[in-house]
Amino acid sequence: MWLQIALAAMIVSFTAFYLYMKHRLSYWKRRGIPEDKGHFPFGSKHAWDFVQGKMSFTQMTNFAYETHPGEKVVGTYDMFGSPGLVIRDPDIAKLILVKDFDNFMERKPFHYNMYDSNTKNNRYFPYMLTELRGQKWKKVRSSLTPVFTSGKLKNMIPLIHKVADNCETYLDKNIGVEFEAKELLKGYALDIIISTGFGYENDTLNNPENIFKKHADVIKGKTFSLKLIIAILMFMACPRLLRWLDLSIFDKNSEDFFAALIVKTIKERKESGQRRNDLIDVCVDILEKERKENEKSVEDEEEAKRRNDEMEKIIIANSLIMFLAGFDTVSNASSLMMYFLAKHQDCQEKLYQEIQEAIESTGSTNFDYATIMNMPYMEKFFQETFRMYPFTHLERCSKEDYKIPDTDIVIPEGIFVRYAATAVVKDEKYYPNPEVFDPENYSAEKKVDRHPFVTGGFGHGPRNCIAQRFATMEVKIVIARLLSKYKIVPCSKTVDELIPDPRSRSGQPKGDIWVTVEKR
Ligand code: HEM
Repeated sequence: MWLQIALAAMIVSFTAFYLYMKHRLSYWKRRGIPEDKGHFPFGSKHAWDFVQGKMSFTQMTNFAYETHPGEKVVGTYDMFGSPGLVIRDPDIAKLILVKDFDNFMERKPFHYNMYDSNTKNNRYFPYMLTELRGQKWKKVRSSLTPVFTSGKLKNMIPLIHKVADNCETYLDKNIGVEFEAKELLKGYALDIIISTGFGYENDTLNNPENIFKKHADVIKGKTFSLKLIIAILMFMACPRLLRWLDLSIFDKNSEDFFAALIVKTIKERKESGQRRNDLIDVCVDILEKERKENEKSVEDEEEAKRRNDEMEKIIIANSLIMFLAGFDTVSNASSLMMYFLAKHQDCQEKLYQEIQEAIESTGSTNFDYATIMNMPYMEKFFQETFRMYPFTHLERCSKEDYKIPDTDIVIPEGIFVRYAATAVVKDEKYYPNPEVFDPENYSAEKKVDRHPFVTGGFGHGPRNCIAQRFATMEVKIVIARLLSKYKIVPCSKTVDELIPDPRSRSGQPKGDIWVTVEKR
């Protein structure tokens, strides 16, 4: 009898859940919006393919884009039918990312309680610039922007050249040896962040066993574990559940290592009064300013302390995000440039000539800010690299119902919107031969006729990449320095085609990027 009741309860519950899901999976159809059909219980194809390891995170919007030519937007379903909207039209993207930014200021909310986070994991994650919301985001973004002014970047250049010297020392000992470019450039990007961000000198390439490298490798992790895939899908489907289960996004030990390092460096700077014009200096200034403001304006001591503590957490979190955001992205971009240079020797020769001219006119390979940022062919090659191997769609969340002007489409409140930036750059409509690598796609004549939102690896609008110029400078310096001395050539392990590896957390291609160098 009890068994029959239990069985009946199970059947009723499952049927109710199934019917609820069927209703949920018709969310877009009911609103008359074209959709990428959702299937019980994993949603649209991208979510199911991601779970199975068939599609990379960076390609998640591509299927909806490619299967709905002619549409402006496509409804999708993440895990358990959570609705999302893929934006196909660059004009709509512009409205969302720039003109009506106030309604699309945030990325997907992460429901950690900012003020009373008793969680074991992800203590800093909700305070990172990438996750912050509303006025708090505005305040932190404007406080951190001065780290990347051209004046500050010019001061950082000697530190970057010092790290590039280490790359040369390493390659001088490895002429003709096949190497994985991302691994080499990970060392470069890591040492730059450690130097310009945290004030320590480090030489990962010639001393790979160092503590920074060890924790950097762990905190990012090379591949998606099943636990992380589940955490990401849960985040997409139901962020609250991820918060309740407290699944960690970054390795806790390594997160603690870097947090302790930041606290220690801030303390040392405060005590010694020493300045290095770097991220930590800005952090010290922000903390000091906040403390003084709180002293003046907040009478309740408890409240003043809470605010000071929160600001300290924000500072640690954002020093961490500078590290996390700057490490894989820069090494990805520069290693991809190496791949395309190896594969396109004619382009490499053109770039080499441009670099030689810069050396002749400045008398040095220690290029200054203006020289490195004003190499026209370098810029075209850089842009074309992002087009050929785009990294990410752009995400925003709608604050209120939003009717797209001149259409009947309404983006409901709370909907997760993704601009298909990875797909537009491969659309024949905008690039006539999208699969052919051609830096001339970025010549002035071609750019003038193209919509500005079908390009750009750094995002768009007020929430674009805060470090765009810093990152561009890092990538161009290492490429110019290496090309001035070596010829980059393919080797036996160089893959013919770059296909994103679904298991790679950093969007690395399958088979990695193997090349070798010859001395010029
Ligand atoms: C080639 C290297 C890089 C690429 C391709 C890149 C790309 C991006 C993209 C696409 C976004 C999202 C933009 C949007 O949603 O519109 C972003 C945001 C961000 N990036 Fe970068 N990035 C790079 C390097 C860096 C570096 C070196 C740092 C830090 C030192 C950094 C820090 C950030 C931060 C903090 C955000 C979040 C900004 C906000 O929400 O206000 N990035 N980046």
